[in-house]
Amino acid sequence: MTTETEAPAPQAQPLEATRAEALAEIAACADARALADLQRKYLGKAGVLAAWMARLPTLPAAERPRLGQAVNLLKKELGAQIEAREQALEKVALESASAGGSFDPTLPAPAVERGSLHPLTQVTREIEDLFVSMGYQIADGPEVETDWHNFQALNIPPDHPARDSQDTFYLEGPGKLLLRTHTSPVQVRTLERLKPPLRVIVPGKAFRNEATDASHEHTFHQLEGLVVDKGVSVAHLISAMKTLLRGIFRRDLEIRLRPGFFPFVEPGFELDARCPFCTGGCSVCKQTRWIELLPCGLVHPNVLSASGVDPNVWSGFAFGLGLSRLVMLRFGITDVRLLLSGDLRFLEQF
Ligand code: PHE
Repeated sequence: MTTETEAPAPQAQPLEATRAEALAEIAACADARALADLQRKYLGKAGVLAAWMARLPTLPAAERPRLGQAVNLLKKELGAQIEAREQALEKVALESASAGGSFDPTLPAPAVERGSLHPLTQVTREIEDLFVSMGYQIADGPEVETDWHNFQALNIPPDHPARDSQDTFYLEGPGKLLLRTHTSPVQVRTLERLKPPLRVIVPGKAFRNEATDASHEHTFHQLEGLVVDKGVSVAHLISAMKTLLRGIFRRDLEIRLRPGFFPFVEPGFELDARCPFCTGGCSVCKQTRWIELLPCGLVHPNVLSASGVDPNVWSGFAFGLGLSRLVMLRFGITDVRLLLSGDLRFLEQF
């Protein structure tokens, strides 16, 4: 029989001897590869126990059941022993690795670093929540704009001196496209898209070709507001602005309106608020007790007409909150350039 040459001949050894030998070999086995060899030797298809099974039919019928049962039991026993030995070997390997200092499975894992929302995002979301609760929609528009939407439809014709105060990045190529210098073009786009009555706010980026310093940045954030309805007056504007201030500074602040010129509002105002940081003058309000907060006014009839809205029926107010500046006020940030710097030392503070 071929099995006799590959494995010890069953006849030559009682089963008990096979068992003792196998258990001794397993107990003495010192590495995983040798253990796999032992498994093959005893439990494999051409292994020792298979040879015992193959021999069964040649035995007297009376002995077959007893021996068959014994071989099966031994198979189970050896399988369990090999598995136990395998686990013991693994444990030893782990322990010796950690004794060498290379791996300590009991150490806590390194902490997961958590990110945080950018301060601009935090303040934007707060203000969005506030206005959404007053029935405003959040509108959006392109950062690359046409001259029409950024200037002309806002009552700023070509060569109007108001263009001087908004140094513009013009794009090369056809169409006289530019990077919007304010979020006000979205007023026009909203009026074109939605029928009044409407209330929207527009948080977004604006761009100006300016020398940068601690309070000027070529890219900054604004939050535009536009309300168009029947009979809208300055009283509505003031009331909305007071609500806005209460939301931002969490208390009522005295406000004042000064005349301000913007071609797309009439009358136009600069809205100042009592300095929320002092009672007797400080560096934020430059000892004046007032901080300049936002320009605003009633929508100029030319803007309504340019967008196809009848100024004899509808009126409205608009405001342009400087979000970057507001975030600086809120968090005591002294250099606007930090906001878009991507500097983790700065960002990790929020
Ligand atoms: N868009 C103007 C600016 O950036 C601000 C503004 C908005 C003024 C709305 C009045 C009304 O300078």
